[in-house]
Amino acid sequence: MERDRLEVTLAELRRRRGSKWTAFAPDVLPAWVADMDFPIAEPIKEAVLGVLERNDAGYPGEASLKELGSAFAMRMSNRFGWEPDPRRIQPVGDLIQAMIASVATLCPAGGGVVIQTPIYPPFLQIVEMLGRHLVDNPLVAGADRYEMDLDGLREAIDDRTRLILFCNPHNPTGRVFERHELEGLAALVLEHDLIVVSDEVHSDLAHAGGTHIPFASLGPEIASRTVTLTAATKAFNIAGLKCALIHFGSKDLKDRQTSVFHPRLLGVPNVFGIEATLAAWRDGEEWLAAVIEQLSANRSRIAGFLGEHLPHVGFHPPEASYLAWLDCGPLGLPSRPHEFFLSEARVALSDGREFSARSDPFVRLNFATAPSVLEEILERMGAAVERAT
Ligand SMILES: Cc1ncc(COP(=O)(O)O)c(C=O)c1O
Repeated sequence: MERDRLEVTLAELRRRRGSKWTAFAPDVLPAWVADMDFPIAEPIKEAVLGVLERNDAGYPGEASLKELGSAFAMRMSNRFGWEPDPRRIQPVGDLIQAMIASVATLCPAGGGVVIQTPIYPPFLQIVEMLGRHLVDNPLVAGADRYEMDLDGLREAIDDRTRLILFCNPHNPTGRVFERHELEGLAALVLEHDLIVVSDEVHSDLAHAGGTHIPFASLGPEIASRTVTLTAATKAFNIAGLKCALIHFGSKDLKDRQTSVFHPRLLGVPNVFGIEATLAAWRDGEEWLAAVIEQLSANRSRIAGFLGEHLPHVGFHPPEASYLAWLDCGPLGLPSRPHEFFLSEARVALSDGREFSARSDPFVRLNFATAPSVLEEILERMGAAVERAT
C-alpha cells in the first residue's frame, strides 16, 4: 500500500469528534493522546460496516469470542513465536480495566508494585488508587536509548514487592526490550517470586530492526507468572472500539483474578470491536506496513528537525510506536514545557510530569500524523522557542 493513502488533511481532522481533535481550541494542533490520525484500514471499515449491514449489533456470539481467542493465539505464534494457551484468554473491553483487576487481585493491599518510569500515566494512577506501594525503577537514559536499571531494581525489591507492571514496547520511551534485558528482568522475577503484568499493546508497531519478544515467551516458569495484556487497538488505531485480551499464564493466575472480578465486570468486547480486531489481524498487514513506514519517516523528520533547530532537546528515537519523549530541560523555557508549547506554539503535547515525578522538563509528542501536520507542529515549536530564548 502506498504511504500517500495515509494522507489526511487538517480540514478532515478538524471534523473528527474524538478526544484528540476536540479537547483543545481549534487553533491548537493536538499531538498528545495516543491516537493516530491516519485513515482506518479498509478491511476494518468493511468489517464494521458489515455488522451494520447485517443488523447484527446484538450481543456477540460465543463463536466470535472464541474466534477472537484463536486469532490472538495464531497471531502471537506467527509473529512472535509464542504459543499462548487458548483456554486462558479472556476478552475484555479495555486494557486499563484489565490492569486494575490484575493489580487488585494479584498484589495484596500494601504490596509493592514495580514500575519502570517514566510510564504511561494510568500505571502510576492504578498503583496509587489501589493503595499499593510504588517501587519506582526508573529507566536510565543511555547514549542512544533508555536502559533498564536491573541493579537498582535488585536493591529496590523488598519483602513487600509482589508484582511488576511491565510495559513492552515501552510508552513513552519507545523501547523494544531485547532478549538479554528481558532475561535479566526474568531472573529477578524468579529469584523474588514475583508476578508480571505485561502490557504489550504497542508490540505490532516495532520499527524496522526492533523485534518484540512477549515476556511470557521466555520459558514455562516465566509464562506461569505472567499476565499478558494486548489488543489491536493501538496498532490499528481503533481504541474507541473497545476490544482487548488478557492472557493468564497459569490456571492459578486466572482463578485468582476471575474469582474476584466476574468477567462481566471488565466488560465484554462489543461486536464492532471484535469484528474490527479480527479484520485487522487477518487482513491488516498491508496497511500496518505502510503505517510503520510512515512512522519511521516521521521519526527521522523529528530527529532531523531537532538536530537543525533545537539541538539541545534530548531525544532518543523510539524503537516502536509513535511517541517522542523530549527532554526540554536544556531549553531553559520560561514555563513548564507543555504549558509553554500550548500557549506559545498552540501545540498540545502530553505533560511529562504525569509520567513520573522527575519528568517535569519532558513532553511527549505524538507523531502519528500526516507529514504536513507534523511539519507544522515542528515549525510552530521551533518558532516559539526562538521567540522565547
Ligand atoms: C501502554 C498502554 N497501555 C494501555 C493503553 C490504553 O489501553 P485501553 O484503551 O485498552 O485501556 C495505552 C494507550 O495509549 C497504552 O499506551
